[in-house]
Amino acid sequence: MRRWFFLGAACAAAAALGTAGGAQAQDVKIGFILPMTGQQQSTGRQEAAAAKLYMAQHGDTVAGKKVVLIVKDDGAVPDNTKRIAQDLIVNDKVTFLAGFGVTPAALAVAPLASEGKTPEIVTAAGTSIITEKSPYIARTSFTLAQSTVPMADWAAQNGIKKVVSMVSDYAPGADAEKSFKDEFTKKGGQVLDSIRFPLANPDFAPFLQRAADQKPDAIFVFVPSGQGGIFVKQFVERGLDKAGIKIIGPGDVTDDDLLNGMGDAVVGTITAHFYSADHDSPTNKAFVAAFKAANNGMRPNFMAVSAYDGMHLIYEALNKAGKTDGDSLIAAAKGMAWESPRGPVSIDPDTRDIVQNVYIRKVEKKNGELYNVEFATFPNIKDPVKAAVAK
Ligand code: PHB
Repeated sequence: MRRWFFLGAACAAAAALGTAGGAQAQDVKIGFILPMTGQQQSTGRQEAAAAKLYMAQHGDTVAGKKVVLIVKDDGAVPDNTKRIAQDLIVNDKVTFLAGFGVTPAALAVAPLASEGKTPEIVTAAGTSIITEKSPYIARTSFTLAQSTVPMADWAAQNGIKKVVSMVSDYAPGADAEKSFKDEFTKKGGQVLDSIRFPLANPDFAPFLQRAADQKPDAIFVFVPSGQGGIFVKQFVERGLDKAGIKIIGPGDVTDDDLLNGMGDAVVGTITAHFYSADHDSPTNKAFVAAFKAANNGMRPNFMAVSAYDGMHLIYEALNKAGKTDGDSLIAAAKGMAWESPRGPVSIDPDTRDIVQNVYIRKVEKKNGELYNVEFATFPNIKDPVKAAVAK
């Protein structure tokens, strides 16, 4: 009897706490799953720093609710991502899942997002198909085709005729390879060879030799953020720069996080991408200054800006929806437009993918540092893969 009484009293007390305190049930939790360790750790470091900066600047209360950021490390291993996402949905009762440093991680969570009606905000991965895998996915990062198609156009119009394609052998690499080849050959260029190398711990040297032997004007390359430094090092070690071969590609290879360490051999390299820390706008200058100040001088890269915008999307969806159920939040995200440090962006209401400018940039030395300096703009680019299907 007594035991039951105490249990009952304890339950009543807990219930009272739950309503009186209210804070816990009212919290909006954001589960950010990122590779904080392993090969993709630069993405995790950049994204976590950007998400924290956004909260430091905008406060931790939105639409009357306290926002709690939970950062979890999946090491970019999709089985981990899935297990962590499940735990965040079931036990932490997160309102949003966000992050995903690589495509397989984002894909692994899609069925859980659908089942739990939990918005999955993709702030890193870039394969076109991701947003089609759940109606609860929205993306603030990029697709590979978004940068690759403008790159192919620019190359074809600027005297590059023969290219060897070199990509990491997984989904975003396949997207980059295909969208480059389709556009470049349509514009009169020739792809001499399509080389794929392993994603994990790649040794580029033998593949670079195979590319060099074909004497292309340029090598089109896609490697995920974090691998550009070693690619460029091996390119230079094998003398490909001296042989007059150019590097072109989406800007992942001249990632702002690593660019300064690549040395003067990359000066003059032309890439296409949606973000450069050198982007000339007041919004970006303020972002870069605040990011550096909060992170011992670390320069933000395209992953940082994708996470920062992911937080913006989350905050504004909460404000606009005034509710926290997945359907209301995804509806609020559709069509949202804002000024990002990268320039103007919006969420395509049909695909839930980001629409953004893509810039052609050249690596230059400014005040002793290397930067991707933008010199041409392809405005308001939707994911070309989905745009082609819709036509
Ligand atoms: C991806 O796995 O989708 C991915 C990761 C890093 C990048 C680009 C794409 O830089």
